[in-house]
Amino acid sequence: MIDGALPYLRCPVCGQRLDRPDGQALRCPQGHSFDIARQGYVNLTAGRSPHSGDSAEMIADRSTFLAEGHYDFIARALAETVRADDGLVLDAGTGTGDYLARVLDALPAAPGLGIDVSKPALRRAARAHPRAGAALADLWRPLPLADASVAVLLNVFAPRNGPEFHRVLRPDGMLLVVTPAPDHLSELVETHGLIRVDPDKADRVAESLGNSWRTESSATHRRTLRLTAARTRTLIGMTPSARHVSLDEVRAAEITATAAITLTVYSPA
Ligand SMILES: C[S@@+](CC[C@H](N)C(=O)[O-])C[C@H]1O[C@@H](n2cnc3c(N)ncnc32)[C@H](O)[C@@H]1O
Repeated sequence: MIDGALPYLRCPVCGQRLDRPDGQALRCPQGHSFDIARQGYVNLTAGRSPHSGDSAEMIADRSTFLAEGHYDFIARALAETVRADDGLVLDAGTGTGDYLARVLDALPAAPGLGIDVSKPALRRAARAHPRAGAALADLWRPLPLADASVAVLLNVFAPRNGPEFHRVLRPDGMLLVVTPAPDHLSELVETHGLIRVDPDKADRVAESLGNSWRTESSATHRRTLRLTAARTRTLIGMTPSARHVSLDEVRAAEITATAAITLTVYSPA
C-alpha cells in the first residue's frame, strides 16, 4: 500500500505534497496526477526515465532464488542492524522488495517504500509487504521525496545517488549499503566467466556517495552456497552477467560458491 508513504512523497513535477483524494490517483495541489497501476505501483518519473532496469526474466530468477533462502543471511543482517523507529524505510533499487519486507518485519510500525525503474520488479515489490508501497522512480534523478523524510534507507546491490540520499535522509537516519565483497561468487567467476567484483569496490562506493557521510560500521558476511545446476543458472540469470554467460554451459551436478557481501552503515555527516 502506497498510503503509508504518502506523507513523505513529493510531486516529481513541482515538488509539492501528494494526496490521494478519491482513493485512486495521487495528486498535488497544482493538479499533477499520477495513476496507480493495476499491479499496485505508482509511476513518479513524470515520464523522464531513460532506463528500464532489470528485465522480467532477471526479476523472476531473483524472486525464485530469494524465496529459497540462499541470501537469507543478507536479509537477517539488515533486519538485525536497523533501529526500531516508525519513520519511513526507503529501499532504493528494491527489485522484488524482499529485503524491504524483512526490514519492515523488524520495525513493526514503520511504513515502507520501494523504488525501482523496472516494472516487473515493481509488480512484485508492490505486494511484498502490507506496509510497503512501490514507485517507479529513477535513482539518477531527483527522488520524489521530501527533504529529511526517510528514517532508514536501504541500498542493496543497486545504484547509489549520494547527494539525493543525503537530501532525503533525516539527520538521525541511517543508510545501509550492501555491496558484493571481492570474493563474492568467485568460484563462478573462475568457472563460468561471471563479471569479477572490483577489488576496490568498497573505496569506490564510499567515493560515489561523496564526503557528507560518516561510516558507522562495516562488516563482511559470508555463506557457502551449495547449488544445483538449475539454481546456478537462476543465480547467474539474476545478475548483470546473465547477458554474456551462456547458461547452457552450466551443467555440473552441484556447485559450491561463496556468497560474500559487505554491509556498511552510514549516517549523514
Ligand atoms: C541487482 S538488482 C538488486 C535488487 C534488490 N535490491 C535485491 O538485492 O534483490 C538492482 C536493481 O536496481 C534497479 N535499478 C537499476 N538502475 C536503476 C535506476 N537508475 N533507478 C532505480 N532503480 C534502478 C534494477 O531494476 C534492479 O531491480
